[in-house]
Amino acid sequence: LRSRYLGAIAEAADEATLEAVRLEALGKKGEVSLKMRELGRMSPEERQSAGPALNALKDEIASAIAGARAGLQDAALAERLRAEWLDVTLPPRPAQAGTIHPISQVTEEVAAIFGDLGFGVAEGPQIETDWYNFDALNIRPEHPARTEMDTFYMHRAEGDNRPPHVLRTHTSPVQIRSMQQNGAPIRIIAPGRVYRSDYDQTHTPMFNQVEGLAIDRDISMANLKWVLEEFFAAFFEVDGVETRFRASHFPFTEPSAEVDIRCSWAGGQLRVGEGDDWLEVLGSGMVHPHVLRSGGIDPDQWQGFAFGMGIDRIAMLKYGIPDLRAFFDSDLRWLRHYGFSA
Ligand code: PHE
Repeated sequence: LRSRYLGAIAEAADEATLEAVRLEALGKKGEVSLKMRELGRMSPEERQSAGPALNALKDEIASAIAGARAGLQDAALAERLRAEWLDVTLPPRPAQAGTIHPISQVTEEVAAIFGDLGFGVAEGPQIETDWYNFDALNIRPEHPARTEMDTFYMHRAEGDNRPPHVLRTHTSPVQIRSMQQNGAPIRIIAPGRVYRSDYDQTHTPMFNQVEGLAIDRDISMANLKWVLEEFFAAFFEVDGVETRFRASHFPFTEPSAEVDIRCSWAGGQLRVGEGDDWLEVLGSGMVHPHVLRSGGIDPDQWQGFAFGMGIDRIAMLKYGIPDLRAFFDSDLRWLRHYGFSA
């Protein structure tokens, strides 16, 4: 019995086999346990010799099992330590860092340059009443600009008599809001999203503009021209940029001008500030008295200039981005290519 069990214990290759051997010998119905139960039926003499022998055997088997189990556990741990190792000298996997969208980057560049020129940043809602977007800016209900601008109107339920809301078609309503909030004098830019129902290579239904507004006692178009030339030289990182003012019409400025900057397109490569080409970059003019009055400012005391410029457009020009639509496609490869690191 002894050598059979000790042999089986020595041979057990895993803990399950060992446990089976333990049950066979020392379990409730194990061979050794049954023998110990038989002691009760023995005579005192027999019991005196068999009892200690059986107890010794039971202890010997139990400690052999404990020893074998410890040995198996040590071996299993050694095997795990061998198999599960880390090479701490391996380089880490590269973490994907995000990039700053070109529109955000350019908006910040624009705000920084105008900041140096003394302009603060103002904001307004993208969902506007048609009063702020049109009427206050001297665009009357019958004015063609309302349809020309392909306005998105917010749906109103029948019986809802609140004023009509639109997705703002330009950043010009922020002119009115900052006049109302701060009064004159004013020197702000207002960057943000605007919406028109239009879609092709150079138009997306949502795009970005930056509005400029300067109101003071004697602001003139000469000030406008100087500010814009300073801005474009700084933005395109050239020594100077000549502007060309073409007479135009906007309901909210009088006189109005579209502004071009001198450039060249040698070999499809844009160079700003030199050459014989002109690039249209913005609309501008002297703020119309109606607009000042809408904002609560007395046109007999104050006057100023305003301009509106496409941020997406100047971003495309500065960074050589060919298709406007890509700005809003969220293609990760495009974003990594044109994005800026933080
Ligand atoms: N709001 C005009 C547009 O969206 C641009 C503009 C702004 C023109 C301010 C003149 C003055 O086209």
